[in-house]
Amino acid sequence: MFNYAVLGIVSSFLGMSEGYRADTSPTYAKDVKPIIENRCQVCHNEMTPERNWMDYDTAYKKRKEIKKRVTEKSMPPFGMPMDDAERKVVKDWVDSGAKK
Ligand code: HEC
Repeated sequence: MFNYAVLGIVSSFLGMSEGYRADTSPTYAKDVKPIIENRCQVCHNEMTPERNWMDYDTAYKKRKEIKKRVTEKSMPPFGMPMDDAERKVVKDWVDSGAKK
């Protein structure tokens, strides 16, 4: 009886941690916006309303183009730094549904 109870507690704990681990996809607020602030904001801001990636809705609308430019490395433009880890975050963000 006691063993079954322990087993139940352990397995429900494992179940919980599985659930916790399941959703690690990047979000705009936590992962993507800080990258945009560093790498894109200088050119993509409220002065360019159609391409203001500081605004979630605008970035969401253009997410496929953002992924394309960032993975093919045409954005940020030639000579401006952006490391592969950051490019991957942007790609994963779009691939996982571009969550807010
Ligand atoms: C030095 C300025 C500059 C920086 C920095 C920059 N961009 Fe751009 N971006 C531009 C300009 C200018 C255009 C418009 C010309 C073109 O389409 O290539 C553009 C166009 C784009 C487009 C196409 C928009 C459309 O309407 O189809 C995307 C997507 C884009 N940029 C994403 C980014 C992302 C993401 C970053 C940051 C990782 C970034 N850019 C950084 C200057 C910049």
